[in-house]
Amino acid sequence: MSQNNRIQHQGLKRKVCSAEEAAQFIHAGDLIGTSGFTGSGYPKAVPQALANRIKEAHALGKEFKVKLITGASTGPELDGALAEVNGVSYRSAFNTDPIMRKRINSGDTDYLDMHLGQVAPLYRTGVLGEMDVAIIEVVRICEDGRLVASSALANNQLWLNSAKKIILEVNQWQSAGLEGMHDAWEVSTSFPHQIIPLSSPCDRIGQPYMTVDLNKVVAVVETNAPDRNAPFSPSDENAKLIAGHLMEFFRYEVKRGKVPPQLFPLQSGVGNVANAVMEALGEGDFDNLTAFTEVIQDGMLNMLETGKMKVASATSFSLSPEKAEYFNDNTDFFRDKIILRPSEISNHVGVIRRLGCISMNGAIEADIFGNVNSTHIMGSRMMNGIGGSGDYARNAYVSIFMTPSLAKGGKISSIVPMVSHVDHIYQDVQVIVTEQGLADLRGLSPRQRAKLVIENCTHPTFRPLLREYYQMALKNNMAHTPILLKEALSWHERYIDTGTMIP
Ligand code: COA
Repeated sequence: MSQNNRIQHQGLKRKVCSAEEAAQFIHAGDLIGTSGFTGSGYPKAVPQALANRIKEAHALGKEFKVKLITGASTGPELDGALAEVNGVSYRSAFNTDPIMRKRINSGDTDYLDMHLGQVAPLYRTGVLGEMDVAIIEVVRICEDGRLVASSALANNQLWLNSAKKIILEVNQWQSAGLEGMHDAWEVSTSFPHQIIPLSSPCDRIGQPYMTVDLNKVVAVVETNAPDRNAPFSPSDENAKLIAGHLMEFFRYEVKRGKVPPQLFPLQSGVGNVANAVMEALGEGDFDNLTAFTEVIQDGMLNMLETGKMKVASATSFSLSPEKAEYFNDNTDFFRDKIILRPSEISNHVGVIRRLGCISMNGAIEADIFGNVNSTHIMGSRMMNGIGGSGDYARNAYVSIFMTPSLAKGGKISSIVPMVSHVDHIYQDVQVIVTEQGLADLRGLSPRQRAKLVIENCTHPTFRPLLREYYQMALKNNMAHTPILLKEALSWHERYIDTGTMIP
């Protein structure tokens, strides 16, 4: 019987086994739901053992693939390991792993990219099938069988409620001090849903523990492995300029009395630009900030540390290795400043609207009217997925999309005549900001928007070309939204044919 002092339930102590033994409970064709969101809190040992089983089966010429649903992206030990052996037939709801991305783009894996706030509601409709196995990473199993989630709460409780079999990974690397940060609250399974009693990011409405039907737990596996924490690149000049334009915009909103001096709750997407904006806010003149977001990155943790930010509500972390260690060593300091919620709550459109979030997300490209592509390179190749950006964009007080004006060393303009794929229709996009400047598109018609986006956001290399395109569109197509159908995607075609959008 395990002596691990994090496994305190006597019955579950007897279920401790190796990852290889636990993986035997998973069968070809199973639908698996795991913990994990933006590279944190995902199971690390059983997926690798499962990948080995799949590899062996494939070597014997046997079919073996599973279907995988998570909260959001995981890490190399889960997505990477299973994709490496071509072991996933269906994947949802978000991925950033490069090997899984290849499988998704080659068609080996069917991928359902969806709004992260809609994963749980869609699962409950039954169209995704019945969950066979849930693999959930936890920090501690209490004496009475309740569970302390690890660094992501995501869809864990729903998977625990619905799966036929449950495997728990108890990860020693995760700080025991996470206990008390979670706020598990379940949306009712029938309609009409009860009102979510949240009127501030600081509110706690649920329990710090998850619950499980102990009879369904088939295995408990002990691990000691870090989350996929990746270092952030130091803020480059473009990220700093984008952050600067945003600071100016926030000051303007405060000055005209529409936003309070402490701003509204911030939602920040992941990535270097988003982190740079948080760093700029940390050094800026706004105090008593709050966040109602999905992910806590380094910049936000710094603000909590310095007191610039009072409280951050999220569903998970995405920290650099140094910050993750720092956080693990200082959980007592952060406990009353961080609230981790299920992603169905962190991304709940009603709550986002009620709180009036300021939403800031990355874009791959935007067009002159303000339609945004967040997911597909050249209209076709999946990058990551829409994530939570859509949950926030349509429902925020103001929805902001950020991107450097150039990509791939200047060969691509991120501002184009027409986006090659639409994730956010122009009605959901209120502000576009590049290092060149910011376009406040609120209240503007497509024609008014086009002028502002071309003049404020486009790189000088491409600005004359866009002006020329738009003037031709105005001349040749006297309609509400002037486009030239034959020309609109010619920039993308040129890039595919010649390796650059520059004629
Ligand atoms: N055309 C082609 N490729 C482009 C491009 C464009 N217009 N713009 C960016 N890219 C490529 C970059 O070259 C880079 O490719 P690489 O990985 O091969 O080097 C990649 O896309 C990422 O771009 P980067 O500039 O590093 O931006 P980022 O890390 O800030 O990510 C998104 C930008 C859009 C991919 C990212 O924000 C995202 O996945 N968004 C959707 C999910 C989301 O918004 N979640 C928010 C809530 S968590």
